[in-house]
Amino acid sequence: MPSDELLEDVAARLRAARRVVALTGAGVSAESGVPTFRGASGEGLWERFRPEDLASFDAFERDPALVWRWYAWRRELVARCVPNPAHVALAELERRAPEFLLVTQNVDGLHAAAGSREIAELHGCLWRTRCLGCGAVAEDRRVPLPELPPRCGCGGLLRPDIVWFGEVLPEATLLRSFAAAMAAELVLVVGTSSLVYPAAAIPQQAARAGAFVVEVNLEPTPLTPLAGAFFAGPAAAVVPRLLGTAS
Ligand code: OAD
Repeated sequence: MPSDELLEDVAARLRAARRVVALTGAGVSAESGVPTFRGASGEGLWERFRPEDLASFDAFERDPALVWRWYAWRRELVARCVPNPAHVALAELERRAPEFLLVTQNVDGLHAAAGSREIAELHGCLWRTRCLGCGAVAEDRRVPLPELPPRCGCGGLLRPDIVWFGEVLPEATLLRSFAAAMAAELVLVVGTSSLVYPAAAIPQQAARAGAFVVEVNLEPTPLTPLAGAFFAGPAAAVVPRLLGTAS
Protein backbone atom coordinates (compact mmCIF):
# COMPACT_ATOMS: atom_id res chain seq x y z
CA MET A 1 0.00 0.00 0.00
CA PRO A 2 1.25 3.52 -0.74
CA SER A 3 2.53 5.84 1.95
CA ASP A 4 -0.15 7.77 3.81
CA GLU A 5 1.66 11.00 2.97
CA LEU A 6 1.45 10.48 -0.79
CA LEU A 7 -2.15 9.33 -0.49
CA GLU A 8 -3.06 12.45 1.48
CA ASP A 9 -1.26 14.70 -1.02
CA VAL A 10 -3.14 13.23 -3.99
CA ALA A 11 -6.43 13.20 -2.07
CA ALA A 12 -5.97 16.94 -1.43
CA ARG A 13 -5.19 17.58 -5.10
CA LEU A 14 -8.37 15.67 -6.05
CA ARG A 15 -10.43 17.78 -3.66
CA ALA A 16 -8.96 21.03 -4.98
CA ALA A 17 -9.00 20.32 -8.73
CA ARG A 18 -11.78 21.97 -10.71
CA ARG A 19 -11.26 20.09 -13.95
CA VAL A 20 -10.68 16.38 -13.62
CA VAL A 21 -10.50 13.55 -16.14
CA ALA A 22 -10.36 9.87 -15.28
CA LEU A 23 -9.11 7.36 -17.84
CA THR A 24 -9.85 3.72 -17.14
CA GLY A 25 -8.92 0.39 -18.66
CA ALA A 26 -9.67 -3.26 -18.06
CA GLY A 27 -7.92 -3.27 -14.66
CA VAL A 28 -10.66 -1.15 -13.08
CA SER A 29 -13.12 -3.98 -13.73
CA ALA A 30 -10.76 -6.85 -12.83
CA GLU A 31 -12.03 -7.03 -9.26
CA SER A 32 -15.59 -7.21 -10.58
CA GLY A 33 -14.57 -10.45 -12.30
CA VAL A 34 -14.13 -9.11 -15.86
CA PRO A 35 -10.98 -10.57 -17.47
CA THR A 36 -8.29 -8.10 -18.60
CA PHE A 37 -6.59 -8.33 -22.01
CA ARG A 38 -2.98 -8.25 -20.86
CA GLY A 39 -1.11 -8.36 -17.58
CA ALA A 40 1.45 -10.10 -15.46
CA SER A 41 -0.85 -13.03 -14.65
CA GLY A 42 -0.58 -14.43 -18.20
CA GLU A 43 -4.35 -15.00 -18.13
CA GLY A 44 -5.33 -11.93 -20.15
CA LEU A 45 -7.81 -12.48 -22.99
CA TRP A 46 -5.18 -11.67 -25.62
CA GLU A 47 -2.88 -14.25 -24.11
CA ARG A 48 -5.56 -16.92 -24.62
CA PHE A 49 -7.19 -15.77 -27.88
CA ARG A 50 -5.94 -14.15 -31.06
CA PRO A 51 -7.53 -10.72 -31.56
CA GLU A 52 -7.34 -11.01 -35.33
CA ASP A 53 -9.57 -14.15 -35.14
CA LEU A 54 -12.23 -12.52 -32.97
CA ALA A 55 -12.05 -8.73 -32.93
CA SER A 56 -11.61 -7.58 -36.51
CA PHE A 57 -13.96 -6.92 -39.40
CA ASP A 58 -12.15 -9.57 -41.48
CA ALA A 59 -12.89 -12.16 -38.81
CA PHE A 60 -16.53 -11.07 -38.71
CA GLU A 61 -16.89 -11.33 -42.48
CA ARG A 62 -15.26 -14.77 -42.42
CA ASP A 63 -17.37 -16.19 -39.63
CA PRO A 64 -19.94 -13.91 -37.93
CA ALA A 65 -21.29 -16.72 -35.76
CA LEU A 66 -17.81 -17.43 -34.32
CA VAL A 67 -17.22 -13.75 -33.54
CA TRP A 68 -20.67 -13.52 -32.00
CA ARG A 69 -20.04 -16.61 -29.82
CA TRP A 70 -17.05 -14.77 -28.34
CA TYR A 71 -19.12 -11.64 -27.65
CA ALA A 72 -22.07 -13.68 -26.37
CA TRP A 73 -19.65 -15.38 -23.92
CA ARG A 74 -18.36 -11.99 -22.74
CA ARG A 75 -21.89 -10.58 -22.44
CA GLU A 76 -22.93 -13.55 -20.31
CA LEU A 77 -19.83 -13.17 -18.13
CA VAL A 78 -20.21 -9.40 -17.66
CA ALA A 79 -23.97 -9.71 -17.02
CA ARG A 80 -23.06 -11.54 -13.80
CA CYS A 81 -20.60 -8.80 -12.68
CA VAL A 82 -21.37 -5.77 -10.56
CA PRO A 83 -19.42 -2.52 -10.10
CA ASN A 84 -16.64 -2.65 -7.49
CA PRO A 85 -15.56 0.10 -5.05
CA ALA A 86 -13.29 1.69 -7.71
CA HIS A 87 -16.25 2.25 -10.07
CA VAL A 88 -18.28 3.60 -7.15
CA ALA A 89 -15.49 5.99 -6.09
CA LEU A 90 -15.14 7.32 -9.65
CA ALA A 91 -18.89 8.01 -9.76
CA GLU A 92 -18.49 9.92 -6.50
CA LEU A 93 -15.57 11.88 -7.97
CA GLU A 94 -17.87 13.04 -10.76
CA ARG A 95 -20.37 14.35 -8.22
CA ARG A 96 -17.64 16.34 -6.44
CA ALA A 97 -15.60 17.80 -9.30
CA PRO A 98 -17.01 20.94 -10.97
CA GLU A 99 -15.94 19.63 -14.40
CA PHE A 100 -15.43 15.96 -14.94
CA LEU A 101 -15.20 13.42 -17.73
CA LEU A 102 -14.75 9.70 -17.39
CA VAL A 103 -12.92 8.33 -20.44
CA THR A 104 -12.98 4.56 -20.61
CA GLN A 105 -11.58 1.91 -22.90
CA ASN A 106 -13.90 -0.62 -21.31
CA VAL A 107 -16.98 -1.95 -23.07
CA ASP A 108 -18.57 -3.58 -20.01
CA GLY A 109 -20.94 -0.77 -18.96
CA LEU A 110 -19.92 -1.03 -15.28
CA HIS A 111 -19.15 2.70 -14.90
CA ALA A 112 -22.72 3.59 -15.90
CA ALA A 113 -24.01 0.86 -13.58
CA ALA A 114 -22.05 2.50 -10.73
CA GLY A 115 -23.70 5.87 -11.41
CA SER A 116 -21.16 7.66 -13.64
CA ARG A 117 -22.95 9.90 -16.13
CA GLU A 118 -20.42 11.78 -18.28
CA ILE A 119 -18.74 8.82 -19.93
CA ALA A 120 -16.70 8.81 -23.13
CA GLU A 121 -16.65 5.20 -24.33
CA LEU A 122 -13.63 5.11 -26.64
CA HIS A 123 -13.98 1.47 -27.67
CA GLY A 124 -17.77 1.14 -27.79
CA CYS A 125 -20.07 -0.95 -25.67
CA LEU A 126 -20.89 -4.66 -25.33
CA TRP A 127 -24.54 -3.74 -24.81
CA ARG A 128 -25.06 -2.01 -28.15
CA THR A 129 -25.39 -3.45 -31.64
CA ARG A 130 -24.98 -1.86 -35.05
CA CYS A 131 -26.83 -3.09 -38.15
CA LEU A 132 -24.70 -3.69 -41.23
CA GLY A 133 -27.85 -3.25 -43.33
CA CYS A 134 -29.62 -0.08 -42.14
CA GLY A 135 -26.88 1.26 -39.84
CA ALA A 136 -29.16 1.47 -36.77
CA VAL A 137 -27.35 1.51 -33.44
CA ALA A 138 -29.43 0.08 -30.60
CA GLU A 139 -29.10 -0.92 -26.97
CA ASP A 140 -29.37 -4.69 -26.66
CA ARG A 141 -29.13 -6.28 -23.22
CA ARG A 142 -30.54 -9.69 -24.12
CA VAL A 143 -28.63 -12.51 -22.43
CA PRO A 144 -28.57 -15.00 -23.99
CA LEU A 145 -29.15 -13.70 -27.49
CA PRO A 146 -31.93 -15.57 -29.30
CA GLU A 147 -29.80 -16.39 -32.37
CA LEU A 148 -26.14 -16.14 -33.35
CA PRO A 149 -25.46 -14.06 -35.30
CA PRO A 150 -28.36 -11.81 -34.25
CA ARG A 151 -30.29 -9.90 -36.92
CA CYS A 152 -31.90 -6.47 -37.08
CA GLY A 153 -35.65 -5.94 -37.65
CA CYS A 154 -34.69 -4.91 -41.22
CA GLY A 155 -33.15 -8.35 -41.79
CA GLY A 156 -29.54 -7.07 -41.78
CA LEU A 157 -26.73 -8.67 -39.83
CA LEU A 158 -25.99 -7.06 -36.45
CA ARG A 159 -22.44 -6.53 -35.21
CA PRO A 160 -21.31 -5.50 -31.71
CA ASP A 161 -20.95 -1.70 -31.51
CA ILE A 162 -17.31 -2.15 -30.54
CA VAL A 163 -14.16 -0.77 -32.13
CA TRP A 164 -12.25 -3.65 -33.68
CA PHE A 165 -8.57 -3.87 -34.60
CA GLY A 166 -7.92 -1.81 -37.70
CA GLU A 167 -10.99 0.41 -37.12
CA VAL A 168 -11.01 4.08 -36.16
CA LEU A 169 -12.37 5.29 -32.85
CA PRO A 170 -15.58 7.37 -32.79
CA GLU A 171 -14.28 10.81 -33.73
CA ALA A 172 -16.50 13.04 -31.56
CA THR A 173 -15.81 10.89 -28.49
CA LEU A 174 -12.09 10.98 -29.12
CA LEU A 175 -12.02 14.77 -29.64
CA ARG A 176 -14.07 15.30 -26.48
CA SER A 177 -11.68 13.10 -24.49
CA PHE A 178 -8.53 14.86 -25.69
CA ALA A 179 -10.08 18.31 -25.18
CA ALA A 180 -11.12 17.50 -21.61
CA ALA A 181 -7.72 15.99 -20.77
CA MET A 182 -5.79 18.92 -22.23
CA ALA A 183 -7.85 21.32 -20.08
CA ALA A 184 -7.67 19.18 -16.94
CA GLU A 185 -5.66 20.01 -13.85
CA LEU A 186 -5.62 16.38 -12.80
CA VAL A 187 -5.89 13.16 -14.81
CA LEU A 188 -6.47 9.94 -12.86
CA VAL A 189 -5.49 6.85 -14.86
CA VAL A 190 -6.71 3.52 -13.51
CA GLY A 191 -6.02 -0.03 -14.67
CA THR A 192 -4.76 0.42 -18.20
CA SER A 193 -1.60 -1.07 -19.68
CA SER A 194 -1.11 2.24 -21.57
CA LEU A 195 -0.13 0.26 -24.65
CA VAL A 196 -3.13 0.86 -26.93
CA TYR A 197 -3.28 4.08 -28.92
CA PRO A 198 -4.80 6.59 -29.28
CA ALA A 199 -6.18 6.11 -25.72
CA ALA A 200 -2.66 5.87 -24.28
CA ALA A 201 -1.80 9.29 -25.72
CA ILE A 202 -4.55 11.06 -23.72
CA PRO A 203 -2.74 11.23 -20.34
CA GLN A 204 0.65 11.61 -22.04
CA GLN A 205 -0.49 14.75 -23.83
CA ALA A 206 -2.28 16.03 -20.72
CA ALA A 207 0.93 15.62 -18.69
CA ARG A 208 2.86 17.59 -21.30
CA ALA A 209 0.15 20.29 -21.15
CA GLY A 210 0.70 20.60 -17.40
CA ALA A 211 -1.86 18.25 -15.85
CA PHE A 212 -0.91 16.33 -12.72
CA VAL A 213 -1.23 12.66 -13.70
CA VAL A 214 -2.05 10.07 -11.04
CA GLU A 215 -1.72 6.42 -12.03
CA VAL A 216 -3.17 3.38 -10.26
CA ASN A 217 -2.06 -0.03 -11.52
CA LEU A 218 -0.78 -3.34 -10.20
CA GLU A 219 2.48 -2.70 -12.04
CA PRO A 220 4.35 0.17 -13.73
CA THR A 221 3.42 0.95 -17.35
CA PRO A 222 4.92 3.12 -20.11
CA LEU A 223 2.92 6.03 -18.60
CA THR A 224 4.51 5.73 -15.15
CA PRO A 225 7.57 7.93 -15.84
CA LEU A 226 5.20 10.80 -16.76
CA ALA A 227 2.96 10.36 -13.71
CA GLY A 228 3.24 12.79 -10.80
CA ALA A 229 2.11 9.98 -8.50
CA PHE A 230 1.99 6.23 -9.05
CA PHE A 231 0.10 3.88 -6.74
CA ALA A 232 0.94 0.20 -7.12
CA GLY A 233 -2.10 -1.72 -5.98
CA PRO A 234 -5.55 -3.01 -6.86
CA ALA A 235 -7.96 -0.32 -8.07
CA ALA A 236 -10.80 -1.40 -5.78
CA ALA A 237 -8.58 -0.74 -2.74
CA VAL A 238 -6.56 2.30 -3.88
CA VAL A 239 -9.15 4.48 -5.66
CA PRO A 240 -11.63 4.56 -2.73
CA ARG A 241 -8.77 5.56 -0.43
CA LEU A 242 -7.86 8.47 -2.73
CA LEU A 243 -11.47 9.63 -2.71
CA GLY A 244 -12.08 8.93 0.97
CA THR A 245 -14.91 6.54 0.09
CA ALA A 246 -13.19 3.40 1.48
CA SER A 247 -15.39 1.62 4.01
P1 OAD B 1 -5.09 -4.34 -20.57
O1 OAD B 1 -5.66 -5.71 -20.35
O2 OAD B 1 -4.15 -4.12 -21.68
O3 OAD B 1 -4.33 -3.90 -19.24
C1 OAD B 1 -4.93 -4.04 -17.99
C2 OAD B 1 -4.06 -3.27 -17.01
O4 OAD B 1 -4.72 -3.30 -15.74
C3 OAD B 1 -2.67 -3.91 -16.79
O5 OAD B 1 -1.71 -2.86 -16.83
C4 OAD B 1 -2.77 -4.53 -15.39
O6 OAD B 1 -1.52 -4.44 -14.69
C5 OAD B 1 -3.80 -3.65 -14.74
N1 OAD B 1 -4.59 -4.30 -13.69
C6 OAD B 1 -5.05 -5.58 -13.63
N2 OAD B 1 -5.78 -5.79 -12.54
C7 OAD B 1 -5.79 -4.60 -11.86
C8 OAD B 1 -6.39 -4.16 -10.65
N3 OAD B 1 -7.14 -4.97 -9.91
N4 OAD B 1 -6.19 -2.88 -10.27
C9 OAD B 1 -5.43 -2.03 -11.02
N5 OAD B 1 -4.86 -2.38 -12.18
C10 OAD B 1 -5.04 -3.65 -12.60
O7 OAD B 1 -6.34 -3.36 -20.62
P2 OAD B 1 -6.50 -1.97 -21.37
O8 OAD B 1 -5.33 -1.11 -21.13
O9 OAD B 1 -7.84 -1.47 -21.01
O10 OAD B 1 -9.52 -2.82 -26.90
O11 OAD B 1 -6.50 -2.44 -22.88
C11 OAD B 1 -6.72 -1.50 -23.88
C12 OAD B 1 -7.51 -2.11 -25.00
O12 OAD B 1 -6.85 -3.28 -25.49
C13 OAD B 1 -8.88 -2.63 -24.62
O13 OAD B 1 -9.84 -1.61 -24.55
C14 OAD B 1 -9.19 -3.59 -25.72
C15 OAD B 1 -7.86 -4.27 -25.85
O14 OAD B 1 -7.55 -4.74 -27.12
C16 OAD B 1 -10.59 -3.14 -27.63
O15 OAD B 1 -11.27 -4.10 -27.40
C17 OAD B 1 -10.86 -2.21 -28.76
